[in-house]
Amino acid sequence: MQKHIIAGNWKMNPAHQDEAHALASNIEAGCAALGKNIEVAVCPPFPYLAAVRAAVKKVKCGAQNVFWEERGAYTGEVSPLQLKNLGVAYVILGHSERRMHLWETNEMINKKTKAALECRLSVILCIGESEREDGEIPSVVGDQLAQALSGVKKNFLKNLTVCYEPVWAISTNKNARPDTPDNAFRAGVFVRKIVTGLYDRKTADTLRVIYGGSVRKDNISAFLTEGRMQGALIGGASLDADEFIAIAALASRAK
Ligand code: PGA
Repeated sequence: MQKHIIAGNWKMNPAHQDEAHALASNIEAGCAALGKNIEVAVCPPFPYLAAVRAAVKKVKCGAQNVFWEERGAYTGEVSPLQLKNLGVAYVILGHSERRMHLWETNEMINKKTKAALECRLSVILCIGESEREDGEIPSVVGDQLAQALSGVKKNFLKNLTVCYEPVWAISTNKNARPDTPDNAFRAGVFVRKIVTGLYDRKTADTLRVIYGGSVRKDNISAFLTEGRMQGALIGGASLDADEFIAIAALASRAK
């Protein structure tokens, strides 16, 4: 089984590198004493990756996107090799904000997933529906997962974390509310069922599945215990060092 992970998605924040460096340093200091049973990662915007990487040791550094080619004439893009060479360990892919605002398709996310995994980056693959009508997790979530993993070799799945993140639960979206731990549990079962179909039961059982969407220190424990999630992707609350450290500490104690 992979360890639990608490990953901070800073999105397009903060405005200045000094703030990014300070936030990363505070999180590193606050997480230094946590046990080995938990991974903590922060994912700043590209321009701060080097400064954040230099500020952390126990805490891992992640990016929020990557291109699918290793090098070449691709203006404005960043390659998996460049991230790897910078000491970046994780990359978030398939986030709903990139699907929505940058028109990322499942096909693009699949290419990025393959390129990142082949470059030995660990991928946090986000999937999740925009609306839920009848309580069931809609089939679109299964399609997102199956398409992202198309052609991905089984042995790479140990470096993959699937993040179930319903779009309506993301704190900055209108009328946002966190999903229930019970639904998160069902999402975990749903993800493993699909992965069993694509690969096999053992691969599905060892896959790390986490939850994202309005996670805070007052609800993290329920997602990990009742929801059986193996961690969380944290947006808004990851910009507050004290709150983020508290979430990581609670996660390291969750059974
Ligand atoms: P949130 O964001 O924690 O602010 O809801 C999560 C995310 O979008 O990854």
